[in-house]
Amino acid sequence: MKNYLTIHPWKIIEQGFHPEYNRITESLFSIGNGKMGMRGNFAEDFSGDSLQGNYLAGLYYPDKTKVGWWKNGYPDYFAKTLNAVNWISLSIKVNGQILDLNKCETTDYKATLDMKESVIYREFRVKFKKGESVVVQSQLFYSMDEDNLGVLKYSVFTENFNGTMEIKSTTDFNVVNKETNYGEKFWKGISTSVNEDFGSVKAMTKKTEFTVNCTTSNKVFLNENIVDTKPKTLKSSQKFSHNYTLEVKKGDVVSIEKYAAIISSFFYDELKSTSEKLIERTLRDTFENLKKNHTDAWAKIWKKSDVQIKGDDSAQQAIRYNILQLNQTYTGKDSRLNIGPKGFTGEKYGGSTYWDTEAYCLPFYLYTADKKVSQNLLHYRYNHLQKAIENAEKLGFENGAALYPMVTMNGEECHNEWEITFEEIHRNGAIAYAIYNYTRFTGDDSYLNTKGLEVLVGISRFWAQRFNYSRKRNAYVMLGVTGPNEYENNVNNNWYTNYIARWCLIYTSKSLKKLKKKDPKQYNKVIKKTKLKENKEVKLWKEISSNIYFPFDKENKVFMQQCGFLDKEITSTDKLKKEDRPISQNWSWDRILRSCFIKQADVLQGLYFFSDKFTTKQLKRNFNYYEPLTVHESSLSPCVHSIIASKIGNKYKAYELFQRTARLDLDDINNDTEDGCHITSMAGTMLTVIEGFGGISVKKNLLHINPQLPHQWKSLKFKINFREVPLCINIKRKKLIIKNDSDSALEISLFDKKVTLKKGKNEF
Ligand code: BGC
Repeated sequence: MKNYLTIHPWKIIEQGFHPEYNRITESLFSIGNGKMGMRGNFAEDFSGDSLQGNYLAGLYYPDKTKVGWWKNGYPDYFAKTLNAVNWISLSIKVNGQILDLNKCETTDYKATLDMKESVIYREFRVKFKKGESVVVQSQLFYSMDEDNLGVLKYSVFTENFNGTMEIKSTTDFNVVNKETNYGEKFWKGISTSVNEDFGSVKAMTKKTEFTVNCTTSNKVFLNENIVDTKPKTLKSSQKFSHNYTLEVKKGDVVSIEKYAAIISSFFYDELKSTSEKLIERTLRDTFENLKKNHTDAWAKIWKKSDVQIKGDDSAQQAIRYNILQLNQTYTGKDSRLNIGPKGFTGEKYGGSTYWDTEAYCLPFYLYTADKKVSQNLLHYRYNHLQKAIENAEKLGFENGAALYPMVTMNGEECHNEWEITFEEIHRNGAIAYAIYNYTRFTGDDSYLNTKGLEVLVGISRFWAQRFNYSRKRNAYVMLGVTGPNEYENNVNNNWYTNYIARWCLIYTSKSLKKLKKKDPKQYNKVIKKTKLKENKEVKLWKEISSNIYFPFDKENKVFMQQCGFLDKEITSTDKLKKEDRPISQNWSWDRILRSCFIKQADVLQGLYFFSDKFTTKQLKRNFNYYEPLTVHESSLSPCVHSIIASKIGNKYKAYELFQRTARLDLDDINNDTEDGCHITSMAGTMLTVIEGFGGISVKKNLLHINPQLPHQWKSLKFKINFREVPLCINIKRKKLIIKNDSDSALEISLFDKKVTLKKGKNEF
């Protein structure tokens, strides 16, 4: 845990330069606008430790898979998110000396990520070897208003000298990924052109042939007056520069505004002309105005999604950081895009889609954004249904059974560890659950009754074929799976997988039946499209779902994670030595697999999803049994535990685990923030607040609110939009205020009693 950042409700502040943590700061200071983003790299030269990263949504490279033992059904490639054009570079020379924080004496350093604005501010004083001193101030953002535009303003104040200042503004496509299987370069140059006013560089990815054109232009000012002198231009392969040389006096300030239009073939056909036109338009505007448009767009996001916590600035900072990063990563405008576990903050996990989206991120957007955003996440999987069917066929399934990939960019599986690719099939359950979650929260069944049912039928067919009847148990069993707890592989009857599969079979059958009654025409369309044999298939789903084996421990009265779990030596995580943790880094795989330690919520993941089907006593027993065995070495784990802890009234644990999820990256709790931030688990943090402390759930078409304010907080305020009724919920220590911002009254259940929320303010 590294406590070098200042706690502030709206800002992440690095006060004093910490080059030893630079990669961590770069991850934390990542910015983006849903279409592109970058790590918080410096614009000026820096010879110290750094991980360069500029990322563009939707673009990937199919890096050839590296495996020791090939298995049938393995994918050929692992999709890699691409480090793309570096457009911010500004090399500054003062009297011939390079401004490099690794070499110059740096004082009064302050870097701030302003979360309200999504702008990085930096300010520092640099002293060069020959004694010249300058103060630098910079601002950097990816416009949320014009989402193809990056904007940088960099000002240098001369403090004690007269002389020359050179600024070399470079745009460079000679970039590589840190994570490559064979050290390949993923981009090849297409064209570069530069004149005194602007330059463009175009490059194409190998294999996938995505093309990107980046046009940049600069406005240079001396003491706020635009400098007329034309720059020297330089051009080389995949790179161009504008060189400005200015004579400066003590007290002068030189400012450069750099604008980058980055246009990719993922979104546009005409790349060069589109980006050059955008730059022309941008140059006619002012920096202040462009920034205002950007911050106004962010103000709209915050209006819907902000969470206010009084009495705990550390929690306040953390929750806003989580909300910021999710909105920087995904804005829900395009159903071809999704949310990589690291977003635009690093290369790890390849930028691909995992079950994290449906299990964690979708409810985040359900609560905080227009329902179109969640719809687009659902459409993403619908659009991949055919590929999921082909994926299942490769593994020997038939008749339209669908197995969605564990990791994907375009619907194809790209994960290649058999115990995950072939066995971690619970992902199919989360994809089905997301359809239910969306329908239950929005009350809108239009997706379910059209595309959703096709997805559900494919997934149900898969489950029906994946279970087999066991004569010994006189029940259906599911063999050889890996549950969410990846510290167990190839187990039989993973309770969570069996449960979510059973639920899916029942939900699909019921939804079909409902539709048949409500809209026979639409029902027939679904039947025709899926070629469903109602009498045979749905009948089989009913038979299977009513007779599935679930391992249960009679002694402790808890659901068993899987068959044989009790053969293990059951101990608890407090017996682990400090040097053992994290066990993923310190133990052999064999030792991990044989131990009872759990990577992330497994049985508890099921109890979280379906908490309305279990009593508080059941939740308590299972939580008390499994939490002490859980090492939370997946970032997705603490949030689920925190929510259940709230539900069972264990406020102490709920808060402890909230902190662990909320400040995971800010405090570098897992010692891996330098690789990038845990974007998908940030959605889980929001769930701990809204569903855990806020006590929000939907049962039988009714919104339930059972708040549990942590002792540390004076109040908690957030908004949700339940079935087109915008609510602002303000939980205070002795009062609860719910503002109903619609014209109609809403019946809800408050502390398990029905109440009506009239229009306007309601106090309890
Ligand atoms: C977790 C998975 C998760 C993945 C990406 C893994 O460590 O065990 O559940 O999908 O990370 O976040």
